[in-house]
Amino acid sequence: MFKDLVKKSRSYRSFQPGKTLSLEVLRELCDTARFAPAATNLQPLKYRLVYKEEERKNLLALTYWAGSLGIKLPPDGHEPAGYIVICHDTSLSVEKPIFLMDVGIAAQTMMLAAAERRLGGCMLGAFKPEDVSACLGLPEGLNPKLILAFGTPDETVVLTEVKDRVKYYRDEHNVHYVPKRSLDEIIL
Ligand SMILES: Cc1cc2nc3c(=O)[nH]c(=O)nc-3n(C[C@H](O)[C@H](O)[C@H](O)COP(=O)(O)O)c2cc1C
Repeated sequence: MFKDLVKKSRSYRSFQPGKTLSLEVLRELCDTARFAPAATNLQPLKYRLVYKEEERKNLLALTYWAGSLGIKLPPDGHEPAGYIVICHDTSLSVEKPIFLMDVGIAAQTMMLAAAERRLGGCMLGAFKPEDVSACLGLPEGLNPKLILAFGTPDETVVLTEVKDRVKYYRDEHNVHYVPKRSLDEIIL
């Protein structure tokens, strides 16, 4: 059931060591996203694939993971196997807020495609675009909007229903809990 895939596709912040991610798989995720809807069908998004060890290490250092938990994520040795950096190509269109919707649609499409392959990952919006551009040698006009990290998940994430808080939390076994609002609460 499609809903099960959506529920399985959580934000994972620890990945199995030694599991590589081929360039072909990253390309396949992009090949799925390119069929997604796009505002006025301008399709200004471009994708920078990051899979080589040195580049992965440098990019990771520019990202922030669940800072409010106060623990090191991903843990040492459990880093993502690859990344897709979603960029806006200003040679195709000026940046407008509506294209951020394209970014979200493309991102979730890739996360679901990854989940179908038993991969997992995390969307990362907390980074300084200029630092990521410099790190990856992105040419002028290709502006990073969102980073997707991928790997084989190595942690347990549990969906719960919102009671008193929406903030995610962990228990003493490092199980990660994500409260979601109930259906009755979100339907107007
Ligand atoms: C646009 C966007 C940006 C995000 N940026 C970060 C980030 O920089 N670091 C991080 O650890 N998680 C980030 N997340 C993941 C959220 O924290 C996560 O989606 C939320 O806690 C709910 O968990 P779930 O994805 O398992 O439902 C981001 C998610 C979205 C949609």
